[in-house]
Amino acid sequence: MSLLELTKISKHFGGVRALHEIDMTVHEGEVVALVGDNGAGKSTLVKIVSGVEPPDTGEIRVRGEGARLVSPRAAAEAGIRTVFQDLSLCDNLDAVQNLFLGQERHGPVWSGRRVRRHLMEEQAQRILESLSVKLRSLSTPVVALSGGQRQGIAICRALISDPAVVILDEPTAALGVSQRGEVLDLVSRLREQGRGVVVVSHDMKDVRQVADRVVVLRLGAKVAEFRRGEYTPSDLVSAMTGAHEEGGDR
Ligand SMILES: Nc1ncnc2c1ncn2[C@@H]1O[C@H](COP(=O)(O)OP(=O)(O)O)[C@@H](O)[C@H]1O
Ligand SMILES: [Mg+2]
Repeated sequence: MSLLELTKISKHFGGVRALHEIDMTVHEGEVVALVGDNGAGKSTLVKIVSGVEPPDTGEIRVRGEGARLVSPRAAAEAGIRTVFQDLSLCDNLDAVQNLFLGQERHGPVWSGRRVRRHLMEEQAQRILESLSVKLRSLSTPVVALSGGQRQGIAICRALISDPAVVILDEPTAALGVSQRGEVLDLVSRLREQGRGVVVVSHDMKDVRQVADRVVVLRLGAKVAEFRRGEYTPSDLVSAMTGAHEEGGDR
């Protein structure tokens, strides 16, 4: 089943064509990598699907139904959650506080709507375990955690509302080799859970390792789409740079 379907999405900023008639589909249990050089339109597409920017034209369907993603909240309610590159974690708060930031579980009004720490801890534990994110303690400020753990917490925060589609913007960009491996494992687990995953990435090794399908953007247009195992690294690079269009073999 297709969880997310974009049809002919276009977006201009003044005279700049950021996206031109982009089609993209994400199925259940599928990881789609979104690649392209700087300025290709990746962030713009992520913002549109996250409800941060409206498209000029085009159609978005979530689980087959037309969706108007007019705000991040609308996108979340439609079942789309995004982990932006900055992660938006609060360094001085612990894992549980970060997971539930802005979505705290409260007691009933008569109890003064006190935050229910133990309920949140239980749910946090479950979600962290579901992705095998390992933390020594749930109450350590996240500033003390590794880059991989922080990415794990940001992804788990997106899972609190049980989204159908998770979008990850450059999830491995700031990480060393072993932590990159950890994060790619998280991505695989999201797929095993049957979610649709979109990963924006610059790292062609990561893309080859984790993506079932690769969508290549160049100057705002979709120039290629590859299935796992049906492309070489140089296919990707030439699609990204447009080398195949010039046809030269210098
Ligand atoms: N808010 C904006 N205002 C003006 N131009 C923008 C804005 N956001 C993006 N652009 C332009 O749109 C194009 C695509 O940018 P972007 O989506 O950030 O690409 P990428 O993330 O692939 O590097 C670029 O030419 C960029 O300069
Ligand atoms: Mg970008």
